[in-house]
Amino acid sequence: MQSEIEYKTIDSINEELLREAAILHIDGLSYRSFITLFGVKFITEIYKDALRNNIAFFVFALDNNKVFGYVMGCTDTRQLFKSVFKKFPKYIAIMLPKIIMSPRLIIKLFETLFYVDKENTTVNSELVVIVTNANYRSKGIGAGLVNNLDKEFLKRGINQYKVTVHDEMVRSNKFYINLGMKLSTSFKMYGVKFNLYVNSIGS
Ligand SMILES: CC(C)(COP(=O)(O)OP(=O)(O)OC[C@H]1O[C@@H](n2cnc3c(N)ncnc32)[C@H](O)[C@@H]1OP(=O)(O)O)[C@@H](O)C(=O)NCCC(=O)NCCS
Repeated sequence: MQSEIEYKTIDSINEELLREAAILHIDGLSYRSFITLFGVKFITEIYKDALRNNIAFFVFALDNNKVFGYVMGCTDTRQLFKSVFKKFPKYIAIMLPKIIMSPRLIIKLFETLFYVDKENTTVNSELVVIVTNANYRSKGIGAGLVNNLDKEFLKRGINQYKVTVHDEMVRSNKFYINLGMKLSTSFKMYGVKFNLYVNSIGS
């Protein structure tokens, strides 16, 4: 990093930034993940459909136009899943080669599509994903992203949002707890434990 990190919030499609976000997503969150199996194009398409449906925004941490991290906020996760359902043929076409190689992925697909029902929460807005460049962690970039995410949620009249994380990802759980998020519930998906935190903001 040469200078100060700049935080940029976008709610329209920027192909280049979204592609960089998808690459970071795969780099940072492939551990026991389902959607990262399907690659950059698959993830970018989900991001773009969320933006087209006006239910998402992204905050990027930039230095000289290089992406050091990003966070995706969604105002209604159920709508996000519906937007993916509506475009199912497009997504299944990208997924098919992997599913043919490993048909058991179908089970994970259904678990993913219905995971919102397992969450047992009335909070609809969500921090969907946050990743910072692995070489630049513990410098406050993650906290800066969440700070800007909070500002954008508040601007949209939302003062509570959820985030789910693998129980085993100790550092990430600690990151959310340090930022004041409260453990709301835990549930099992893909045979592993997930924690759901809720962040109440703006009071
Ligand atoms: C979780 C994640 C986004 C945190 O990003 P980050 O940029 O490291 O976050 P921060 O730097 O704001 O905070 C992390 C730690 O750095 C510390 N820190 C913050 N600013 C600092 C600074 N200037 N100097 C030294 N340490 C600092 C924080 O206190 C915190 O310490 P802790 O981990 O001991 O509690 C990052 O680890 C990541 O991308 N992980 C992989 C993806 C992931 O797990 N995402 C979450 C699940 S969706």
